[in-house]
This record gives sequence, C-alpha cells and structure tokens, in this order.
Amino acid sequence: MTPVAQRGAAILRRLPNNGAMAEIGVLLAKLSEHVLSKSGASMVLVDSWAPASEQPDHYKATNDDHSKHDKRRADAHKREAMSRVARFGKRVKVLAAPSVEAAEKVDDGSLDLVFIDADHSYEGVKADIAAWLPKVKEGGWVGGHDYRNPDPRFRFGVDRAVDEWATASGAVIETDLNFTWFARV
Ligand SMILES: C[S@@+](CC[C@H](N)C(=O)[O-])C[C@H]1O[C@@H](n2cnc3c(N)ncnc32)[C@H](O)[C@@H]1O
Repeated sequence: MTPVAQRGAAILRRLPNNGAMAEIGVLLAKLSEHVLSKSGASMVLVDSWAPASEQPDHYKATNDDHSKHDKRRADAHKREAMSRVARFGKRVKVLAAPSVEAAEKVDDGSLDLVFIDADHSYEGVKADIAAWLPKVKEGGWVGGHDYRNPDPRFRFGVDRAVDEWATASGAVIETDLNFTWFARV
C-alpha cells in the first residue's frame, strides 16, 4: 500500500460512506482523490497553495518543504489538484485560503471527519484543531497526519499540539496507518 492509500484507508475506516469531510492541506489532491474514488463522500478541500513569501514564520521555521514553494510551484500544485478532483463535480468544494480563514466558511457541526495535514508547526496544528473542531458533528472524528512520525524530517510540532489538546480536552487519541491520529468528538 502506498502512503496515500494508507492514509486513505485510515480515513475510510471512520468516515461514513456518504459522509462529509474536510481535508486541511491538500497539496496535489492525491489523498482527496483516493477518498473520493473509494467512497460516496463529499469533501471540503482546504489549501492556501501559497508561496513561501506568504507563509507564516512558524511554518517556515519547521523547514517543511511545503512551506518553501515559490509562486510558480504553488500555482502548479493547485492546478494539478484541481484537475485531479474535477471529475467528482459537486462532491467537492474547494476553499483556496489559509485554513483558519477557510473554517469561517464552513458550518459548525456539519462534518463527519476533519483531517488536519497543513502547517505542521505546533502553532499551525494548534490553530487548526481550534478552528476545525467545532465543524465536526458529535460522534464524528478529528485527525491528521505525521503524529509520532519517527523520521526527524517530519518531527515538527504535531505531537505537542495534539497531545496538549488531548490532555486538556480528555480526548482519546487513536493512531493508524502512516502516522495518522484520530479522536472522536
Ligand atoms: C503535507 S501537504 C498536504 C498533503 C495531503 N494532505 C496528502 O495527504 O497528500 C501540506 C499542504 O498544506 C498547505 N498548507 C500549509 N499551511 C496551510 C494553511 N495555514 N492553510 C491552508 N493550507 C496550508 C500547503 O500549501 C500544502 O499544500
């Protein structure tokens, strides 16, 4: 199984077949395409596809390659993502904006699952959990990527942000394939 298929399987285990989810951080929409093609789900796809010049310092400080794209590369990623999901029509809503801003355009309690995979800094993940958690309906799931990833290149702030939130809220974290994490809301 590819890493994308592993993340997809972890999501599809929890997402109702015709459920609604948001993916926060889309890049090329490979994961989005996987979920859309293997379910009847609808997806809100959130990505700023922004160049490094527009990224916050805490994101660039992680050294994550995705925080350092130039405009031409970021635009190419967006085009590729759009073409990958075009065939799914109305099942897809794209919010091309910073994630916290995009959250304002989504109704509270409207989603079965939110998958956080954008700015992996502590500040970024903390802000995304705060902004997107209210969008999940009771009994739904919040989760994300690169939790407890032993690869030093991916040891950003995810663990700290998720663990702090879990301790404060009493949420129980489950892990799944390819360093994904999930908690019931
Ligand atoms: C790790 S990639 C996403 C990978 C994708 N989820 C997958 O599984 O294939 C991270 C993406 O998050 C986006 N991103 C980073 N910070 C963001 C923010 N604050 N708001 C919206 N998108 C952001 C980047 O533009 C990048 O495309």
